[in-house]
Amino acid sequence: PRPLIIDTDPGVDDAVALVLALRSPEVDVRAVVAAFGNVALERTLDNAGRVLALTGRTDVPLGTGADRPLVHRREQRAGHVHGVDGLGGRAAQLPDPVTPLPGSGIALMARVLEEADEPVTIASIGPLTDTALLLATHPGLAERIERIVVMGGAIGGGNITGAAEFNVHADPEAAHRVLTQDRVPVALVPLETTLGCAAGPEWIAELAGADPVGAELAAMIAPYHGYYRGRYGRDAVALHDATALLECVAPGSLAATPVPLVVDTGFGPARGATIPYRVPEAPSPAVDVLSAPDVPAVLDAVLARLSGRPQAS
Ligand code: BDR
Ligand code: CA
Repeated sequence: PRPLIIDTDPGVDDAVALVLALRSPEVDVRAVVAAFGNVALERTLDNAGRVLALTGRTDVPLGTGADRPLVHRREQRAGHVHGVDGLGGRAAQLPDPVTPLPGSGIALMARVLEEADEPVTIASIGPLTDTALLLATHPGLAERIERIVVMGGAIGGGNITGAAEFNVHADPEAAHRVLTQDRVPVALVPLETTLGCAAGPEWIAELAGADPVGAELAAMIAPYHGYYRGRYGRDAVALHDATALLECVAPGSLAATPVPLVVDTGFGPARGATIPYRVPEAPSPAVDVLSAPDVPAVLDAVLARLSGRPQAS
C-alpha cells in the first residue's frame, strides 16, 4: 500500500475522508495531523482521535497541528456547518480518543517522510498551515513527498465569500506558499469539483446500513445534510474532503488540468481567492486542478470503500 499522511481539521467531511483512507487497502495511513479549521484545534484534535478510535485504528500516530494561521489571526470557524463539536453533535458518543503524540505535528510528518521507504502522499484537507510549515522548515524532505493533494480553492465561486473557499480563506498565506512552490507536485480539488460530488439520501442510507462505523458516519452527516439542503436547495451533501481523499487512494479517479494559480493575500473582499493565470508568463508552476468527469463513479468508489464492499477490478 502507498504511504499517506493526512493533514485535517475534522469536520464531518474530514471524518468521512479519514474513515475512507483507513478502510482503503491501497493506502497505509502513516500519520494524521489535526489543525485548527472547522472548529478550534482542541476540538479537531479530539475529533481526529475519536475517529481513529471509532475505526479501531489506535495504532495510527496522531499529531498536533497548527492552532492558528501563519500570519494573520482569524476567528472564522464552520460550526454552523459541522456542528459546534465539529462532528454533527456526535463527538461525545464516539469512543475515547487516541492520545496525540508529544511534539509537533510538523515533526511527526517529517519523521514519517524520513523513515518512509518510498515517496509519501500528503492529503491536505484543512487549512494549509501545517503543509506550508513542513515545506518551509524541511526543504530537504520535499523529494520524499510523492504529491500533495489539496481539498481547497475555488476557480468559480467560493463558499466563504464569493471569491474564497474555506480552507484557503482560513490561511491564504499558507495556501499561497503551497500552491506556488516548485518542489512538490500539487493537485488541487476545488470547491466546484467537490460540490459536484454530492451524495444523496440513497447513498447515505447505504452507508448507514453498512456496519456500525457507517451508521455513525451517517449520524454525523444528518445535520450537515440539513445545512446543505438549506443552503444549496439540493437533497444531497458535498463530501468535499472524501473526494480529495479518493484521489489519494485511487490516483486518476479525478481528471487533471494544469493551471498556474496564485492566492489573493491582500485585505480586500477577495482575500483567499485562488486566481488562475491565463498567460504563459505565470509567476509559479502549474498545479493540477482536478475535476470529476464521472460523478457516479466517484460516489460509488467512496461508498464501496467506506462500507467494505469489494471493488470491481
Ligand atoms: C472545506 O472546508 C471545510 O469546511 C470542509 O471540511 C472542507 O475541507 C470545504 O470548503
Ligand atoms: Ca476539512
